[in-house]
Amino acid sequence: MTQEELQREPQEQWAEVDHFITDLLAPDDEALTAALAASDAAGLPAIGVAGNQGKLLYLLARLQGARTVLEIGTLGGYSTIWLARALPESGRLISLEYSPEHAEVARANLARAGLDSIAEVRTGAALESLPKLAAEPGAGPFDLFFIDADKWNNPRYVEWALRLSRPGSVIIVDNVVRGGSVLNPDSADPAVVGTRETYELIAREPRLEATAVQTVGSKGYDGFLLARVVS
Ligand code: SAH
Ligand code: DHB
Ligand code: MG
Repeated sequence: MTQEELQREPQEQWAEVDHFITDLLAPDDEALTAALAASDAAGLPAIGVAGNQGKLLYLLARLQGARTVLEIGTLGGYSTIWLARALPESGRLISLEYSPEHAEVARANLARAGLDSIAEVRTGAALESLPKLAAEPGAGPFDLFFIDADKWNNPRYVEWALRLSRPGSVIIVDNVVRGGSVLNPDSADPAVVGTRETYELIAREPRLEATAVQTVGSKGYDGFLLARVVS
């Protein structure tokens, strides 16, 4: 390794490696580029998954053979586009988003990507939308869940995912490491408390088998949790 590489800030290096990977294996096409530009123009925060992470979501959905996806936390629909692209024409994705402004940007981004017949964004607090969704005839089971909204409620979202699942369903939770802050049992940060409770809930839930992996990259130091519904 050169002296220059050794002295580089880790975050800078993680971001450069992410760009190297993304440029080769997961480049944004026109619709994804336009989705990010429209999200930025509308003032949405740039907190969506990175390109290579979006591709990971897409691949997991393909490996799962998913036909139905439930996402919690849409933002501008960047992860939604990746997930919806993994589904067959007859597939269905529902994404729950609290902010009407975010939902509007996401709907336009999905339409531009040609995915509006597959992906639907529902506005409202997810804990209000979920019981309504569950009461609909033919709602679920979903083959894959992506939980990426207010982290405080993640334990509730995992419980709802279980309720709307079948044996073999996959549950992915984003941001489960948060720069390592997940280690702090005394944290006053609701995101950390919610994330720690999520691990504990999953650890004692016999219907789930799960792991989590730490990630570094353009989005910093964080991680994904992956669970499979056993029964
Ligand atoms: N999945 C997106 C990023 C989502 S960011 C991507 O990777 O591209 C988190 C989103 O969750 C924000 O848009 C925020 O408005 C939304 N959110 C926050 N609290 C929520 C709630 N209670 N119900 C539904 N969505 C919520
Ligand atoms: C935040 C939320 C996310 O879903 C994410 O991937 C990164 C950051 C946040 O609320 O700061
Ligand atoms: Mg996230």
